[in-house]
Parts: sequence; structure tokens; C-alpha cells
Amino acid sequence: MSESNAANEGIKILGLESSCDETAAAVVVDGRKILSSVVASQIDIHQKYGGVVPELASREHLRQIVPVVREALAQAGLRLEELDAIGVTQGPGLVGSLLVGITYGKTLATALGKPLVAVNHLDGHVHAAFLEAYQHGKKPQLPAVCLIVSGGHTVLYEVKCGEGPVEANSFAYRKLGQTRDDAAGEAYDKVAKLLGLGYPGGPILDRLAAAAGGAKAPVRFGPTKTRGNPLDFSFSGLKTAVLYHLREHPEYNAEIKKREEALGQGKRAFADLLPMCSEATLGLVREFQNAVVRDLVERTMMAVEDCEVRTVLVSGGVSANSQLREVFAERARAKGLEVFFPDRALSTDNAAMIAAAAYGELMRGRVADVTLNAAASLPLA
Ligand code: KG4
Ligand code: ZN
Repeated sequence: MSESNAANEGIKILGLESSCDETAAAVVVDGRKILSSVVASQIDIHQKYGGVVPELASREHLRQIVPVVREALAQAGLRLEELDAIGVTQGPGLVGSLLVGITYGKTLATALGKPLVAVNHLDGHVHAAFLEAYQHGKKPQLPAVCLIVSGGHTVLYEVKCGEGPVEANSFAYRKLGQTRDDAAGEAYDKVAKLLGLGYPGGPILDRLAAAAGGAKAPVRFGPTKTRGNPLDFSFSGLKTAVLYHLREHPEYNAEIKKREEALGQGKRAFADLLPMCSEATLGLVREFQNAVVRDLVERTMMAVEDCEVRTVLVSGGVSANSQLREVFAERARAKGLEVFFPDRALSTDNAAMIAAAAYGELMRGRVADVTLNAAASLPLA
């Protein structure tokens, strides 16, 4: 059988993702096999503002959506007419950004006479963990606890099999806990900004923490207490503790200024910034990361005990964090649990996870129409 014939078998869904600052399109067959996954990141545009600027994000999605879809189809070796459905992120996310993907998806579905499927972005992140496992011939067993941890979300769900055929992989969710203030990725981004380490903060802080070695921590951050639901998170106190520590120690100012100047000259790589970090900064970064990782892991493990599950799924941009992966793997090993992380490309926002989630919805007969609208705070459960 030729390549194109092989690709012709199964349900081919074009996924579209534009909820935040990534314009993405992907083609996935039967919710499992990734034929293509293209992501146009807007990091360069938002970097100078230290965070995502919604108006700029929507404008950029408008510029990127057509070439990104074209590229996804070219990589999949498919023509538009060969698609079976269009899956698009409905929310949660930035309304202006979501609308670009939704309007494009609606137009495409109408013009092609193919079904349009609305996807919850968080359902997509859960599917990312499954997609990764499939690429290695594995399948996570349900029920599971899933931690979705990104720049916009930090939330724990119990994941069970949903209605519909088993192969459809549609899930049913129960929310167990969520952040009461900042998302973990947001804390990374804000702390990196305070320290003059650029945007996004996660990848650089991850590497600096690993490079900190035995650098003495200039301050200690204890476990975060949350009243009420013990499975709720809170990261704004930690960010404020970093802020106060920096204010109380003006000796950090000179190196922060130096790094900010370097960023202004485009020197934002790890190799550029590492030599500009004092022992105290490295110790501080390591202590911050220890606190975030400890909190994410402890509450997730608590949820695993409460729900009596054997599988842990971790997804979203922060799940790329090397220490988070190590600690989860260690804890899971000790308890005989299976833990699944998407690869880096699937952990941050992408459209393959949207196409995979759309397959589950389509198999359940859930199809949207041209009245579909963006939902900034679309709940999953
Ligand atoms: O999932 P994502 O691409 O977009 C959202 O839906 O937010 O996640 C982006 C977030 C950013 O806050 C970024 O700093 C964080 O994920 N991030 C990391 C790492 N890589 C990305 N945080 C910690 N460690 C990393 N290695
Ligand atoms: Zn996301």
C-alpha cells in the first residue's frame, strides 16, 4: 500500500488551536496517529512585553492561520477535501484569539461540507498525554488523575472513561482542585520577569535551577497552605515572597539590570544569562522551583490516594519541567503507579491534541454548527 493510501484510511481530523499565543494546525488519524503538527509561536512578539498581549495575539493568529494550516496539510500529504472533520478549540482562552480559529474552522467546515467539532482546550491537554503514550505503543489505564499545569491553568481532574465507543477515547471529568490565584507557569513567568530573565520564564528557570548545584539558598520557601480544599493550589504568595526578598536585598539590582540590558540586545539564551547570575540568584531560582515542584507533586499524589487510581497524567507547558518529571517519576516508581507526560512538543499548546480530542467528540456524535462561539472560561467539569 502506498503512503497516501495508508493515510487515506481512518478518520482524518484537522485540528486548529489559537487559544493563547500559539497558532497551530495538525492532522491526526483516528485520534491516535499524528500525520502533521505545526505550531507558530508568538514568543518573539510578546517577549518584549514580558507576557501575552491579547490584541497582538489575535492579530498574529490572523496572519498565521492560513500558512499554518497549509503547512499542516502539506506535511500530512493531504488536500482539504480529503479531511473528514475540522476540530477547533472553543475555550478556555483569550476571546479574540479563539475567534480567529473558530471563524476559520467554521468557514472551512461549511465550504467543505464537513463536520465542525468544538473542543475544550483542557480536554486537548489530557489527550496530549494519551497521544504521547500511543507513539510508544502504550495506553494509559483509566481512571487516572490528571494534573494540567501551564501558563493559564493549574488544575487537577479525575479522568474516567466517557460515553461512546472505547476506541473513541472520550473522557469524563471530575474537577478535584485548581489554583486560587496564579497558574504555576504564570508564577514562573512573573519570577523570571522580576529577575530580569526574560519571557517565557519556565524554560530558563528550569535550566538555571539545574545549574545551581550546591549554591546556597538565600531564603527558604515552606509548603503553601490553602484553607478549605487541600487539593487547591496557590502560587501568588510564592511570587510575592520572591518579590519581597528582592526588595529587601538591593544587592540583586545590579545583576538584574545587566540581564535586562542583555535581553534588550537579544541575548536571552541560557548560555548568555548563566554567567550573569550570582550564586544567590541561582540558589533563589532553585529554591523557587523546589517549592513549585513540591507543591504540584504533593497535591497530585494526595489526589491519587483519594481517588485510589494507578495512573497519573501530567500535561501543559510546565509539564516540560525537568525536575517536575524526575520527581513525579520517582514518586510514581515508589508507589507502583504509572505516570505519563507528553513530549515537549505535545506538552505546550499544539493542535494535534485538539484533533485527538475532536475525534472523541465526533464519535459521540457531538458536532457544532455555525453558531459556535468562543467561550473564554469554558468549564471541563
Ligand atoms: O501550555 P502552554 O504552552 O500555554 C498555556 O496554555 O499557558 O504553557 C506555557 C507555560 C509558560 O508559563 C512557560 O513558562 C511554562 O509553560 N513552561 C515551563 C517550562 N516550559 C514551559 N515551566 C517550567 N519549566 C519548563 N521547562
Ligand atoms: Zn494550554
